[in-house]
Amino acid sequence: MNRAFAPGKIILFGEHAVVYGRPALAVPVMQVQAKVEVLDSNAPGIWIEAPDVNLHAELSTLPATLPIASVIQSVFQHLNISRFPPLIVRVNSSIPVASGLGSGAAVSVALIRALSSALGCPLPDETVNALAYEAEKLYHGTPSGIDNTVITYARPVYFVKNQPIETFQVKEPFTIVIGDTGVSASTKEAVGAVRKLWEANSPYWEGVFDAVGRIVQQARRAIECGEVTLLGPLMDANHALLQEMTVSSPELERLVAAARLAGALGAKLSGGGRGGNMIALIRPDGQEQVAAALRAAGARNVIVTQVG
Ligand code: PMV
Repeated sequence: MNRAFAPGKIILFGEHAVVYGRPALAVPVMQVQAKVEVLDSNAPGIWIEAPDVNLHAELSTLPATLPIASVIQSVFQHLNISRFPPLIVRVNSSIPVASGLGSGAAVSVALIRALSSALGCPLPDETVNALAYEAEKLYHGTPSGIDNTVITYARPVYFVKNQPIETFQVKEPFTIVIGDTGVSASTKEAVGAVRKLWEANSPYWEGVFDAVGRIVQQARRAIECGEVTLLGPLMDANHALLQEMTVSSPELERLVAAARLAGALGAKLSGGGRGGNMIALIRPDGQEQVAAALRAAGARNVIVTQVG
């Protein structure tokens, strides 16, 4: 049996503006993960078992545009294998779907690794990342590539679309609380809504994206210099710009406000928005209080994660 794991991720700063060429910072979240196992089989064909999304089917019966099917096909194609051996592909994930934690990219990355190993040709990170990016297009339409990159390399990433991958150092570790609104939201729709705003007045929105870009640069410097408390106000400022892009929601606002009231140093939505997750920066001793406040404000799930 061949098995691979991939973590979830959060975007610390820069979502949406990253689609327009500005930088963004993202980190892996090891507390949640996708697991893929590939087993030999006696029955012909490639059977996919993905109970989390209620999928139990043979590959050839699935539409080629279904991300899991398309990833499997792309691995065979990349390895020049035209006769598929009989296999069972088992996919399990503890990453909530459509919530900004990178569930789709994590499944793709784990699947590419487990399957290519099972076929005797484990693929290098660069290829894993490139194939996972193709699948991201099926989920998101015009993805920046940030999710597949941070999940493939499982390290903090300073990401600029179409640029070589750049990781960054975390001088002083810091703690983030992730609160899930429980509202699943389509990244594709949120990205589309921002695109409409931009099309209607691109000079104005280019200015907003520039402001996000400056926040990202300041945040990177603060993280690399260990000046973690500076990140709180930067999160608040980034959240205000995301509100302006219309990608917040009443549920996100409730959680962001609750975290700030409970003593978080700053808070913002994370990922595509309009639902999904928010993040809050907390003092090392503030974890219980902020987590309790988020639950009381309606968070479906709360994860505490250490960065660095
Ligand atoms: O919803 P997520 O976490 O997959 O976030 C996507 C981030 C965006 O910047 C909104 C889109 C992208 O492709 O970068």
